[in-house]
Amino acid sequence: LDAIPEDWARLVEVFARHGIDGTEQTDRPPSLCGYLPEEAHELVGPLGDELRAYGATEVAVDSVPEEDWAEGWKQFFVTRRIGRRFVLRPSWAEPWTGEGDLVIELDPGQAFGTGDHPTTRMCLELLEEIAAPKRVADIGCGSGVLAIAAARLGAEVQAVDVDPLSVEITCQNAARNGVYLQAFEGRGFDPLPAGRSYDLVMSNIISAALISLAPEAWSRLMPGGSWIVSGVIEANWPDVLAAAERCGFRLAARREEGDWVAATFSR
Ligand SMILES: C[S@@+](CC[C@H](N)C(=O)[O-])C[C@H]1O[C@@H](n2cnc3c(N)ncnc32)[C@H](O)[C@@H]1O
Repeated sequence: LDAIPEDWARLVEVFARHGIDGTEQTDRPPSLCGYLPEEAHELVGPLGDELRAYGATEVAVDSVPEEDWAEGWKQFFVTRRIGRRFVLRPSWAEPWTGEGDLVIELDPGQAFGTGDHPTTRMCLELLEEIAAPKRVADIGCGSGVLAIAAARLGAEVQAVDVDPLSVEITCQNAARNGVYLQAFEGRGFDPLPAGRSYDLVMSNIISAALISLAPEAWSRLMPGGSWIVSGVIEANWPDVLAAAERCGFRLAARREEGDWVAATFSR
């Protein structure tokens, strides 16, 4: 594409109309990639024509070797230190004993969150800066990595994810780490007990979801509490900041890595 489209969805739908549900978008250079099996090669011509009609300036086809996608990612998930004290260890790796380290043992399965992604990493670093959180909500828990990290710091944690599989994996990972937390399936704060307030909310989700979460993050947080946000692409940062400030939040810390921004807001 010559430029980032206003609405990626129209192009994603073109792929979907040709039976390709999984697409991957990139902003630099603006492009959209879909995977199809080799035997469906005859789809490429009509798909390419339609993509061009929807504004694609170049359509390219390449072959990728067959891999065991379900297991292949495991080779990239290795034990790693994040911040000063957190150590993320795959459940299949050698045990780790480091004095004072807070070890988080994970098998993320199909859920997001090995700590490899800058958005997760920055959240853990920001979490480490918060002195002893007591009541924590993790909205968009994925593998449960942030929820378990907060529990390791001694907090009582409630976690939410729209994806039922992530909720299941969070519970499995919590048990694996011997920490207690509650995980709920649902959107935003909806499934959490009404009237429950927190001194820390963490949400590593996309900017649009953060913007709509802001008012409830404010009302669920106790005065003096913190809201850690991540998953923000730099271009969307001004909108996220404005939404938080409109609710009354004050920016307390900000980190960036590559195109990603994460921040802590104080209530
Ligand atoms: C980027 S992953 C973050 C996972 C993990 N917390 C981490 O930091 O690595 C975002 C997660 O949020 C979930 N999610 C997205 N929008 C949500 C919403 N509005 N409410 C609850 N969960 C949401 C997704 O299903 C996904 O598991």
